Amino acid sequence: MNQIEITLNGQPRSISGVLPHTTLLGWLRSQGLTGSKEGCAEGECGACAVLLSKPTAEGGTRLESVNGCLLLLAGLHGQEVTTVEGIGVEGLGSPLALHPVQSELAVRGGSQCGYCTPGFVVSMAAEYYRPERQASQHSNGFELDAIHGNLCRCTGYRPIRDAAQALGQPAEGDRIAERLTRPAPLPRPTELITSSGHFHRPETLEDALHLLDQLPDARILAGGTDWGVDVNLKHARAAVTVAVEHLPELGRLEWTPEHLELGAGLSLSELERRLAGAVPLLHTWFPQFASRLIRNRATLGGNLGTASPIGDSPPVLLALGASVLLISSQGEREVPLDGYFTGYRQTVRRPGELIRAVRIPLPLAPVTGFYKIAKRPLDDISSVAVAFALSLEGGVVSGVKIGLGGVAATPIRAHETEAALVGQPWTQGTVQRAARLLKREGTPQDDHRASGAYRAAMLEQTLLKFYFEQTGAEVTA
Ligand SMILES: Cc1cc2nc3c(=O)[nH]c(=O)nc-3n(C[C@H](O)[C@H](O)[C@H](O)COP(=O)(O)OP(=O)(O)OC[C@H]3O[C@@H](n4cnc5c(N)ncnc54)[C@H](O)[C@@H]3O)c2cc1C
Ligand code: FES
Ligand code: FES
Repeated sequence: MNQIEITLNGQPRSISGVLPHTTLLGWLRSQGLTGSKEGCAEGECGACAVLLSKPTAEGGTRLESVNGCLLLLAGLHGQEVTTVEGIGVEGLGSPLALHPVQSELAVRGGSQCGYCTPGFVVSMAAEYYRPERQASQHSNGFELDAIHGNLCRCTGYRPIRDAAQALGQPAEGDRIAERLTRPAPLPRPTELITSSGHFHRPETLEDALHLLDQLPDARILAGGTDWGVDVNLKHARAAVTVAVEHLPELGRLEWTPEHLELGAGLSLSELERRLAGAVPLLHTWFPQFASRLIRNRATLGGNLGTASPIGDSPPVLLALGASVLLISSQGEREVPLDGYFTGYRQTVRRPGELIRAVRIPLPLAPVTGFYKIAKRPLDDISSVAVAFALSLEGGVVSGVKIGLGGVAATPIRAHETEAALVGQPWTQGTVQRAARLLKREGTPQDDHRASGAYRAAMLEQTLLKFYFEQTGAEVTA
């Protein structure tokens, strides 16, 4: 097989000669669909945004905006994609029939050179049709978070925001709204064997594990937000790619009396929606992770799979006392996250093993906080990330876990600081002493994001900030 089928702007397309590393954006533009632009090719600007149809639990379809520059065409067999060309009221070939998103941007001066505009149109359209927005009682319900992954360098964001906030609800007979009442097609099993590499989307977990057993060096692919950057900017190529995020065993979210299990293949947006604030630490963390475009694809499995010392999920999951469930054809094992990282981008995960899920023990510690120190408040990688999860009994710290990122070769727990806090009264004096200890945890290094001294100073400050935010206490000398 070297052919895939997708639905593109409502029309079935059969695409032959697909190579495993061709991005959706590259292919679209080669077909003359040049509305989607390439700005950065690394998920930072949103000029390439397209809509991917995802099934809803109610049997309908949700439109998710995603970065076309990071999506591999080979991974889309069976799926439905809508580009900016397919959003106009009459669809392709009718440039004057503007969608409400397009006309609001036009009349409010939301576009100048226009390079970013197709990406904004796509992200705004996803938000326009978001079911929760349509049910919202607040103004027009548009969450600006939907366009945080789109950059504009000439218009300025005020007119774009005005356009977003002026949007009404889809009119009776809206072509796209009507389409969304029917189910989205699912990804289909895929096997592309080409001279540039092989691409597999196995039908079952068993098939995936069998493949990984035979080909332990295969590149596991989930949302592709890390791998897509490597493909585009480092020209990375894999002899064999195995896509896994569609596997039902990686897509479960389960509560038991003892723990919460989060499927490693669920996108962060899906987790955010389904948890709906039930884990306050995760709820605080989600909006600080990249942008909506990235969160619509990024997975926990991918974040732990890269094992980056500045990945954001490890500090949070370390504070929650999480463990990782690793599965292979030999069976499944549970590894505490605290013992998962063994060195710079190294883990205990063996060749052929897949991260199936992350397990968080219950009950959750009641007092939590997450602090991400980065150069920009939104859509940036951490210089330092710190997560706290604390329990108090009668004003005394009865338990605490502190997860740190960006201050060592791996994400770490601040064990020394934790030990100094447990059994102590939760007071400014205790916290100041512990903060001085926290400043000495890890081995913070200088790099292009921050100096080691700055990182150490931030560790101290985050604990103080956490204390003052949680208690509302006045700062005293
Ligand atoms: C613009 C931009 C902004 C970003 N911002 C942030 C940020 O704020 N914080 C942050 O932490 N990261 C950030 N990232 C990095 C990236 O989005 C995350 O690491 C994400 O969680 C990766 O998930 P994925 O599913 O896209 O991984 P993929 O790219 O599919 O895979 C990443 C790696 O993990 C492996 N892998 C994937 N799934 C599994 C699995 N189930 N089992 C074993 N191995 C697996 C893959 O083989 C690969 O090596 C950003 C990336 C971009 C492009
Ligand atoms: S081209 Fe910039 S995000 Fe894709
Ligand atoms: S209109 Fe020029 S970059 Fe946005």
